Formats: sequence, C-alpha cells, structure tokens
Amino acid sequence: MDVEAVIEEVLPRIRPTEDERAFVEGLMKELEKLAVETIGELGLDVKPYFVGSLAKDTYLAGDHDIDLFLAFPLETPLEELRKKGLELGKAIAERLDSYELAYAEHPYVRARYKGVKVDLVPCYDVKSWGDVRTAVDRSILHNRWVLENLNGRNEEVRLLKRFLKGINAYGSEIYVRGFSGYLAEILVIKYGSFLEVLKNTDFMLRQKIIDPGNWLKREYETAMRTIRREADADRPLIVIDPVDPRRNVAANLSWERYGVFYFRAHQFLERPSGEFFFGKEKRSGNYLEELRRKGTHLVTLAFNAPNLVEDVLIPQLERSARGFEKALSREGFSVLGWDVGRKGERAFIMLEVDRRERERVKIKPGPEFFTERGWDFYRKNERVWIIGKRLFAEKAVKEDVSGVIVELIEKNRIAMGKNVRENIRNAEILLDYVPKELENEAYLFLSREKWNLKE
Ligand code: UTP
Ligand code: MN
Repeated sequence: MDVEAVIEEVLPRIRPTEDERAFVEGLMKELEKLAVETIGELGLDVKPYFVGSLAKDTYLAGDHDIDLFLAFPLETPLEELRKKGLELGKAIAERLDSYELAYAEHPYVRARYKGVKVDLVPCYDVKSWGDVRTAVDRSILHNRWVLENLNGRNEEVRLLKRFLKGINAYGSEIYVRGFSGYLAEILVIKYGSFLEVLKNTDFMLRQKIIDPGNWLKREYETAMRTIRREADADRPLIVIDPVDPRRNVAANLSWERYGVFYFRAHQFLERPSGEFFFGKEKRSGNYLEELRRKGTHLVTLAFNAPNLVEDVLIPQLERSARGFEKALSREGFSVLGWDVGRKGERAFIMLEVDRRERERVKIKPGPEFFTERGWDFYRKNERVWIIGKRLFAEKAVKEDVSGVIVELIEKNRIAMGKNVRENIRNAEILLDYVPKELENEAYLFLSREKWNLKE
C-alpha cells in the first residue's frame, strides 16, 4: 500500500465525526455559560478560556477532555489566585456531575460532565511571556499561537499525534518523555505536513534548533541563554517556544523517544502501514526459553505498589533498579539489563544477571604485617598469608544472588526511590521464575522485544 492510501484509511478513524463535534461544541457552550454565571455570582473579575487540543481542534476522535482555564487579572496576588481559583472551580463543578481535587503546581478541580473530563484550572490572564507567573499560564498563549499559525492543517496534526501514540512516543509526562501535543503542532507548522515531519527526522536532529517564533532576531540574548542551557543538558531538540524565548518546548523529550520516532518514521516511509498508528501486538513467547537461549538468570522483586501516580512511581522504580544494578555489580554479578513496572496492585523490578551463584569467598586485603592492626588481623582470621608487606585472608560471603540482595537491602546499601523503599524491603525475591501475570513482561524484557526497534 502506498502512503496516501494508508493515510486515507487512517484519517476517518482519528477525525472526530460531526456528531462528536456537535456534542463537544454543545458542551463547551454550556460550560462557558455556567462559568460566566458563576463568576458573576461570586463577583469575580475572571475570564474563562478553553485551551488544549479541543480549543485548537487538534484532538483525536474519542479523546476530548476539556481544559477550561480561569484567568485572573495580573494584579491578583498568587495566594488569592490559588484560593479564589479553587473556590470558583468548585462552584462551577458543583453544577456538573461530580468532581475531585487534583494537584499540579497549584491545586485545581477535575470535574466530570456528561461522561467528559473537565479540568478547571486557575491561571493568570497573560498577554505575553513577561507576564507568565505559573507553569500553566502559557497555555492561553500557546492556544492563540497555534490557532494563528495552523492554517487548516489540523488533520496533519491528528495524523502525527496518532502516529506518535501508536509508536509509544506521545506524551511529555516524565514517565514517557515523549512528544507533547503542542510540540507535534509546532512540527507540523514548521515542516508543513505529517509526511514532511517524518521525512525530516534526520535533518531536524542535525539542525537541532527550531525557532518558529524568530526569537533569535527579536530577543537574541534570552534565546541564546535557552539554547546554551538546553545544549548543555544534551537535549535531542531545542524548540524555542514561539510564545516564550526562555523555554524549550522539547525539554522533556528523551533521546530514546526521539530515537524510536526516528526509526519508525524511516520504516513507515519505506513500508507504510496502518499498524504504526494503532500499535502492533508485540510478539510473545516463553521467558524460560529466553533464559535458556541466553544462559542468563532473572531476579524479580515483586511487591505491593505504593499508592502513587505513574508520574512519580515509575521514575522511583527506575531509580531503585539502577541502585540494584550498581550494588550487584559491586558484589561481582554483572547486570545485563533491568525493567520495572506496575501490574494492578503489584509493582516489580526485574534484573537480568549473568549467574545465580558467585564464589563462596572473597579475598580480603589487610594491613601491613608489622603493625598493631596487622597482629589483630592475624589473630582474627583463619587462613592468613602475605603478599608484599600486606596480610591477606579469605572471607566467606553469601553465594546466591537472592541472598546477596537480601543482605544488601538489610544493610541499606542500595539507592532507592524514597516512596518505594519500604515496599521493596518487603518484596518477594524470585529467581528464574515469575508469577503467571508477569510471564509476558518477563518475556518482552528478556527477549528485548519490549524495546526492539526492528520490525
Ligand atoms: P495537554 O497535554 O492536554 O495537550 O496539555 P493537548 O494539546 O491538549 O493535547 P491532547 O490531545 O490532549 O493530548 C494542554 C496544554 O498544556 C500545555 C500546552 O499549552 C497544551 O496545549 N502543555 C502541556 C505544554 O506546553 N507542554 C507540555 O508538556 C504539556
Ligand atoms: Mn488536552
């Protein structure tokens, strides 16, 4: 199939239908009226703005969360914005179906109305980047910039977003570190279309700096400071935010996610298929066979997952896995790789190691033989010998990897994420065996199918 045919096939599945459009537009009208009324009743000077992909018409079919921003005048003190913003959010949400509080830089209200998630987010009514005071303030500016520059290429954005989702590279959350919706919009605006973005993955990486707002002409010093900072941090791309020269829109994009995009884009252009957009079932197999094939061993720590959002949990699990990798290699095991995750109530850390048992002794270097401490060493150890002027002795150590891990945990010798430490202390340690629900995870990890770039 050629590219055009694939795109023709994908588009109707990701473009919202007329019914869906009418439904969300109706909702937005209703919400706007409710917001204006409530603002009046509370006697506030606040402007409601719709932002996010709904307001830009770049949302994917079936994926229509509403972001309603409540913009306070710039003179409002931050404390007052927090307090009044929350009050207003709650007052609006009281008239919807249900709500709960959510926390970002400041608390906001997350409501539901007719089955749709509605975020009611207080912010400042900023006119330009100099006014920005909280992390969410730029969204209004983003929205305006995209509306002014997209020129009808909304379907191109939908294609790119769906493609990025299909290859698991969409989302700027820390546990994804992929492309944000706004970044996808900027790339389409810059390169003209979905296909042009894909064709430019190599060029864009070499060019490195994308400056759609022309900040290098208008605000050279500020833009250069951003470029230097982000270059020092070794980001794959530096996309100077067209509404704020201090920010790299791609600051959360990792080399891994960019790399996946790079390879998938090449593969798609070479052999186009709808599978890229909707994800392909990963090949599955038997993890025990993988262990036999590789001659390696699998240590799994399984424990109750603390009640944390993915954004916090996953980075802490990763940090802990790196802690185990370091500690085990100090103990003479070589760690070929690791993986972490959550399955329902349980979380896990898997470590692939070269062997399940090490030698039963370590050679312990001692002091010089003619010293007080030397005599001490001589008395305390069973077999003692000299090399040069130093004494040496044997020290018995735990030989199996599970025992070593238990000991390392007991002695607190492993760097772990602070909210997962207690749970890991109580982990079950499994060797070359995983419970049924982790069998596929274990296979995908050991075979590296989980990250395999090749088709
Ligand atoms: P969303 O993550 O909801 O993005 O952030 P979106 O554009 O609405 O895309 P989808 O369709 O829901 O996935 C809402 C707004 O927050 C700002 C942008 O202004 C975005 O439009 N934002 C969010 C960023 O600038 N950077 C981010 O990493 C995330
Ligand atoms: Mn959104």
